[in-house]
Amino acid sequence: MASLLPRLAIPKAEPGQLDPRSLFAPLPGSSQRDVRLEIGFGGGEHLLARAAVSSETGYLGAEPFVNGVAKLLAGIHAHDLQNIRIHHDDARDLMEWLAPASITGVDILYPDPWPKSRHHKRRFIRTSTIAELGRIMRPGAELLFASDIEDYVRWTQDLMADAAEFQPVHPVGGDQRHPPDGKRPSPPGGCRPISHSNALKRFSLVLSGNAYIFQQTFNKGIPR
Ligand SMILES: C[S@@+](CC[C@H](N)C(=O)[O-])C[C@H]1O[C@@H](n2cnc3c(N)ncnc32)[C@H](O)[C@@H]1O
Repeated sequence: MASLLPRLAIPKAEPGQLDPRSLFAPLPGSSQRDVRLEIGFGGGEHLLARAAVSSETGYLGAEPFVNGVAKLLAGIHAHDLQNIRIHHDDARDLMEWLAPASITGVDILYPDPWPKSRHHKRRFIRTSTIAELGRIMRPGAELLFASDIEDYVRWTQDLMADAAEFQPVHPVGGDQRHPPDGKRPSPPGGCRPISHSNALKRFSLVLSGNAYIFQQTFNKGIPR
């Protein structure tokens, strides 16, 4: 932790000034590196798996939980990964530093659910974070939100439906009722989760110009 974290820590930047590609070695030729962000990576299992299969993509991970950061660092060291940078703190600081339209994908996987009504305001997904996500994500970028708490899934759907920079498209993946061919109309009120009370629900919101796609799958694991 003492030796690797300082090398991989994302330096503080002025609001909106951080080009995340500058944190990584340039790719050969003129190709521009994609950079994804994972918010609340826990022990870093998903982040490590993604980074291992896509070495040309840069990955930013934000996590205040020290044991999680230590676990991620152990994984980075064990697999000699060069494409992860870490913000060991609140993801909202990092989001504020990031330049507009600089991120090609965001993963928010099983965020703290804060199930009691009086604690809902502590949920990571709220109007202000959705606005920040819309600012830092490139057109076409993907926001993958996963939760097994139905109330949090509905909460996220409702807030996303109100976000001007996002517009619902059709769910793809697990929900065959609304195939991803764009030909069928969305259900009234936007896409709804399939009710399987014990199923894990994963929503992928794709920001595409002014559009996002809800995607539902029922397995916890690395998406396609
Ligand atoms: C329920 S855990 C899920 C961890 C991991 N994503 C997984 O699926 O196993 C939620 C994580 O989000 C982190 N977290 C909570 N608030 C955060 C914030 N504002 N910024 C970054 N991470 C946060 C917590 O420390 C915790 O590790």
